[in-house]
Amino acid sequence: MTATPESRTGARVQRLALARFTTLGVGGEAEVWVVTNHEQLAEAMEEPYRILGGGSNLVISDQGVPERVIRLSGPLAERDLTPDPDLSDPDRIVTGWVGGGVPLPGLIRALQKLGYSNLEGTVGIPAQVGGAVWMNAGTRYGEMFDGLHTLEIATPAGLRVVTPDDLRWGYRDSGIPRNHIVTRVRLKLQKRTPEEVLAKMTLADTARKGQPKMKTPGCAFKNPGGVGAGRLIDEAGLKGTRVGNALIAPEHANFIVNLGGATAADVHALLDLIRQRVGVPLELEYELWPGEVQLGASLPAQWALEPT
Ligand code: FAD
Ligand code: EPU
Repeated sequence: MTATPESRTGARVQRLALARFTTLGVGGEAEVWVVTNHEQLAEAMEEPYRILGGGSNLVISDQGVPERVIRLSGPLAERDLTPDPDLSDPDRIVTGWVGGGVPLPGLIRALQKLGYSNLEGTVGIPAQVGGAVWMNAGTRYGEMFDGLHTLEIATPAGLRVVTPDDLRWGYRDSGIPRNHIVTRVRLKLQKRTPEEVLAKMTLADTARKGQPKMKTPGCAFKNPGGVGAGRLIDEAGLKGTRVGNALIAPEHANFIVNLGGATAADVHALLDLIRQRVGVPLELEYELWPGEVQLGASLPAQWALEPT
């Protein structure tokens, strides 16, 4: 067995297919840098890079991406939920640092057991903390910025520590520039009983019962004000439309699922079709790597576009 090559500062560097790191299960190769500390991260950021979280909002090209793909690991994927004695009281907790690479579902479970409230509305989001913060992931029961006290962000100009008040955040948007990396956050939580936190989690969980269980990057489009994107796509009659091995989910029209062996081009074609058929402009929630294709450019004329 050959050892994994290491960079100057000790980051593990390997050429890998990215599909395995995504919930859609699609994506070609890139040079993957696994970094465990700030020094390695700074080295990884010396050349063009992308930061990969839980891969739960990504449609990655079958050709992969030319940039380095950074993954946070080791101490940057650990959590310290101990209340800071200087900033906490019996009702309000400010935790230690939680790494950007920490899986969100496990964090939410741990907070529930401790009876720490504010983030339980994000239950069921298969992200990492850094990706969820960068997108301000959430549901109508709550979002990431409900529970943030401090954010540590690696920028090309160095590390910055900011508070939510320093950022212009909103629905599915943290205001943090692209490729600024959320390395760690401290959480701001309210003390409740574990049962109270569980009750709110159950409510948020129930709201996603109708979502498909197959490989998917979640909702394709952000909800435009008022009516949900899912309902608009449904009303356009597109549920069950298939291109190649990608399908507009019959359970929820804003989800595209991989039936097995789907390509990024299959998904792009469905996204194009939705934008053409739905009467109002829709903003993409998925992120397309390496970039967004021109509207219509990915729709091969010969593909059947009628619902199956
Ligand atoms: P990735 O998909 O890996 O990356 C997404 C973006 O975040 C990329 O631009 C990436 O570069 C950036 N990023 C990743 N890590 C960092 C970091 N450390 N610092 C800075 N930028 C970073 N979303 C919701 O909001 N609500 C939901 O209810 C919801 N439900 C979902 C259900 C399912 C089954 C699935 C598959 C997805 C769902 N999503 C939902 C979408 C997705 O989970 C969110 O968009 C999430 O924020 C993506 O985080 P990630 O860590 O997976 O990021
Ligand atoms: N609807 C339809 N047809 C569909 C889908 C939905 O008519 O195919 C209707 C539903 O019947 C309901 C309304 O649209 O009346 C809203 O649907 P839902 O409750 O599923 O919520 P949503 O707005 O579609 C949002 C988030 C989800 C989040 C859920 C649960 C966005 C884009 N989506 O979905 O987030 O999980 O609420 O809180 O904001 C994601 O962002 O990736 C995501 C999955």
